[in-house]
Amino acid sequence: MSKKLVIAIDGYSGVGKGTLAKALADKLSLPYLDTGLLYRAVGKKMLDAGLSVDSDGVVQIAEELTEKDWLRDDLRTPKIDKVASQVAAQPRVRAALLDMQRHFATQQGVVMDGRDIGTVIFPNADVKLFVTASAKVRAERRWLQYTTNPNDPAKAEQIKQIELELMQRDEADASRAVAPLRPAEDAHIIDTDHLNASEVLTQVLEIIQR
Ligand code: DC
Repeated sequence: MSKKLVIAIDGYSGVGKGTLAKALADKLSLPYLDTGLLYRAVGKKMLDAGLSVDSDGVVQIAEELTEKDWLRDDLRTPKIDKVASQVAAQPRVRAALLDMQRHFATQQGVVMDGRDIGTVIFPNADVKLFVTASAKVRAERRWLQYTTNPNDPAKAEQIKQIELELMQRDEADASRAVAPLRPAEDAHIIDTDHLNASEVLTQVLEIIQR
């Protein structure tokens, strides 16, 4: 396997890109970067500083972002979901994060996941994957991840609510003017509706070996 393999993984929210990317990085001994965390970290710092989403201060936050900003455990909350999606729609924020993402791959290659990795960050990636699953399946998986009571009588209602939120984020990510979520022309589409995590990994390893 080439030393500097670059694997780009894009897809919808809650589709299991992170699980797949981590497993691949592990298997192939490559560094891993979840680029969603970059937008989440910028959103968090923006909230903390009381800045508006289109301000120069937010661009500066993005320019000065370091690993300690995105390697923290309080970035996955509904509030941050929302602001991350807003900062991600800002062209100047995306531009400020571009070089850093590319630079990340220069030493040892990378497995990187996000929304624009195969289309914008690494248009020449060695392997591009676009991971999909229906909103319903994604909502069910996310519910199972977070619930403390698998027999919760409000299950159906909660899943419906999660599904709605996922669809709103899909729509925002796919319809924005800059770097919208879409599969690269040469991406392999991985539909995970009927596959578990290890089946997805097996399928993807086959693609990479080819
Ligand atoms: O993958 P995630 O849910 O952690 O991403 C957070 C937000 O950032 C989401 O609205 C999509 C956006 N994002 C993006 O626009 N481009 C990326 N490469 C990664 C994430």
